[in-house]
Amino acid sequence: MKVDDVKVVGVLGAGTMGSGIAQVCAVAGYEVVLRDIEERFLERGLNTIKKSLSKFVEKGKISQDEMDSILSRIKPTTSLDDLENVDVVIEAIIEDMDAKKAIFKELNDIVKREDAIFASNTSTLSITEMASVTRKPENFVGIHFMNPVPLMKGVEIVRGLLTSDETLNFAIEFVKSLGKEAVVCKDSAGFISNRILMPWVNEGIWVLYEGIATKEEIDRGMKLFTNVPMGPLELADLIGLDICLAAIETLHKELGDKYKPCPLLKQMVRAGLLGRKTGRGFYDYTK
Ligand SMILES: NC(=O)c1ccc[n+]([C@@H]2O[C@H](COP(=O)([O-])OP(=O)(O)OC[C@H]3O[C@@H](n4cnc5c(N)ncnc54)[C@H](O)[C@@H]3O)[C@@H](O)[C@H]2O)c1
Repeated sequence: MKVDDVKVVGVLGAGTMGSGIAQVCAVAGYEVVLRDIEERFLERGLNTIKKSLSKFVEKGKISQDEMDSILSRIKPTTSLDDLENVDVVIEAIIEDMDAKKAIFKELNDIVKREDAIFASNTSTLSITEMASVTRKPENFVGIHFMNPVPLMKGVEIVRGLLTSDETLNFAIEFVKSLGKEAVVCKDSAGFISNRILMPWVNEGIWVLYEGIATKEEIDRGMKLFTNVPMGPLELADLIGLDICLAAIETLHKELGDKYKPCPLLKQMVRAGLLGRKTGRGFYDYTK
């Protein structure tokens, strides 16, 4: 399939990433079918999109009319059947292999277009394994956006064992059509981005856990020492602690002991302190 043939993009999951992906696709002119499992998650996702677009209006980057037409291109739904006419599907549901495989299996019988592209936004999980349950593994590819999606330019394109050259090139051209830049890598746990980033976040949590410094000092220090815009604990709160734990656990399982998750990260996820999305993580966002 050529990028010019794409009219409708299906996005699975209206959370942190799915809402951002839906937004950038609609901004680029695509029709978007945004699916989550409950109305309240769709509402939350659409509110996030509205807030983000309003900031672009305030800054004069888009007009109010443009914002309205962008929003009109996003069709929220709780029914997977509404994805029947999509050309591309980008999955951004929870970071769980069984859940992802289950949804791709269902889509095999729903999406009508024979040569539709199926893509996952997974942070760390195997693209090859997800592709194995789809009707055309050669049409499956990792399209890994960065958070916050509307602002981050880089997108990691992950080639599964059976991904075809055509699908890989499609993915590169597709992210270009969204105004973003593709970086290609092979299918290996954590790809480039999270193979390097997640141990950094996890290590920041270990430093806090071992009482070496306060959370504020860790974050302030890393910003001052390495010129990054956020320290590891602030970044964990932005990403979501459940997502960080799932990512580091995959790296641990696939690549060995040096990726062992910090017990404090596990405890915080058990306590429901997931970061910005729940109002509390390492920092309190409710005030
Ligand atoms: N948070 C990040 O910074 C980040 C960055 C890059 C990639 N990712 C990846 O993107 C994916 C989504 O992460 P997120 O941070 O947006 O998570 P999130 O928890 O914010 O959102 C996940 C959403 O998926 C929904 N969902 C669960 N099961 C579903 C299903 N069967 N069908 C449709 N929706 C379903 C949930 O209701 C929720 O709204 C994960 O694979 C994650 O690893 C996350």
